[in-house]
Amino acid sequence: MPTRATSFGLKSVFAPGDTAERSLPIWLARQPTWLRDAPLSAAQKAWVERARGSGRHLLVPGVDGQPAGVVAWPGDERGASRDQPELAIGHLPGLLPAGLYHLEDPGLNWELATVAWGLGAYRFRRYKSGNGEEVARLRQPPAAGRALSILEGVWLGRDLINTPASDLGPQELEAAARALAGRHGAEVTSIVGEDLLAANFPLIHAVGRASTRPPRLIDLSWGAASGKRLTLVGKGICFDTGGLDIKPASAMLLMKKDMAGAAAALCLGHMIMAAGLKLRLRILIAAAENSIAGNAFRPGDILHSRLGKTIEIGNTDAEGRLVLADALALADEEAPELLASFATLTGAARVALGPDLPPLYCDDDELAAAFAAAGLRVGDPVWRLPFWSGYEASLDSPVADLSNVSDGPFAGSVTAALFLRRFVNRSRRFAHFDIFGWRPAPRSLGPKGGEPQVARAFFELLRHDFAGQPS
Ligand code: BES
Ligand code: ZN
Ligand code: ZN
Repeated sequence: MPTRATSFGLKSVFAPGDTAERSLPIWLARQPTWLRDAPLSAAQKAWVERARGSGRHLLVPGVDGQPAGVVAWPGDERGASRDQPELAIGHLPGLLPAGLYHLEDPGLNWELATVAWGLGAYRFRRYKSGNGEEVARLRQPPAAGRALSILEGVWLGRDLINTPASDLGPQELEAAARALAGRHGAEVTSIVGEDLLAANFPLIHAVGRASTRPPRLIDLSWGAASGKRLTLVGKGICFDTGGLDIKPASAMLLMKKDMAGAAAALCLGHMIMAAGLKLRLRILIAAAENSIAGNAFRPGDILHSRLGKTIEIGNTDAEGRLVLADALALADEEAPELLASFATLTGAARVALGPDLPPLYCDDDELAAAFAAAGLRVGDPVWRLPFWSGYEASLDSPVADLSNVSDGPFAGSVTAALFLRRFVNRSRRFAHFDIFGWRPAPRSLGPKGGEPQVARAFFELLRHDFAGQPS
């Protein structure tokens, strides 16, 4: 378990709405004509016009020469921020001088603007000595509560991903799930190490057995038994060496993030439980370290799965789909209304769509469209790729029921998704997200580092399309 706060808290970047401290207004110039009607003096307007340049923000001086406010422009960045100008607020915490600010714009989507501020303000400070510098803080706008619980979820997810494997193994991941459950009155059970064999999770055991830190299946549940069943399954590979098919150094460097699927599931779980959505939530995390030792599983091995299908190992680096297969099979046994998996499953997903746009796989057209729309609304986009049945045969094995890798170099994210779908038979709907889990360079919505992609999009969907309103 982490021994100290893993990042500075939300309190360091937000101030209570009623604080007596003076704050500077932030105006978001949503329309090109904004300046004409802006609440500024003629001199200030002239300054803004002269000084705008190509920047994203400008401090506006008052008559005393001190800053009187900040103008922010949505910017020219393509993608989400063009349609959701509030997302541009995410740039400001990293740009503004320390001090207190407030948003001043009656037409603003307050929740999204507050979320954008908090996403942009996050820094991972666990391993930095000192208290850090003074930073810009935002006065909480009215009804900021929902935004803050979304942010708590994302900050938790980022902290988990950013924490290196030396401090976050399967056991610490379980501790994080238990801590979250404790906050919300959820139940957690876990099956650890050799017990995985007796409980029939042979794939999770096989992938994790070469590590000195035993693998486990973590099972969190929350909510009234009568609620619609939503089950989230997360890939929790705390470090992926590739196993005996060892990764080259450059590909291994970031593999502490191979538990980002689990982090995204916990992040989303926090949002759901904090909002009190009316559903029965279950989170299953298949946690293991894909390590190298004499007892590691090998290429050519044939493994049994919980569902009974046998799997020939074509590559020990395709371990995520193995641990997920057992977790999905368990999830599927109770036929949830919606079953979703989150996983840093393939490098091929990043080749197909890049690091910022995770593929979504779902056979239900309506649900897939709703996910895509929800993602765009909140700046957490997903893009649908097909469960293309025409490629099923590429998973054939001459000696087992299927292989854990396809027979060629193409469509690796699709064939991995098809592999997972083989283990889902009864759930009413199944959605799978092949996430990257990492922001390779700083952007408006966060610094370089871990990102529990899809959690915010999923929560946005649930609020509108699945669960009904909070109790
Ligand atoms: N964790 C990796 C996938 C990954 C790599 C995600 C880089 C994000 C960034 C996964 O376990 C893996 O190694 N997959 C292999 C599968 C291959 C052996 C069929 C891959 O994508 O190369
Ligand atoms: Zn791997
Ligand atoms: Zn992996």
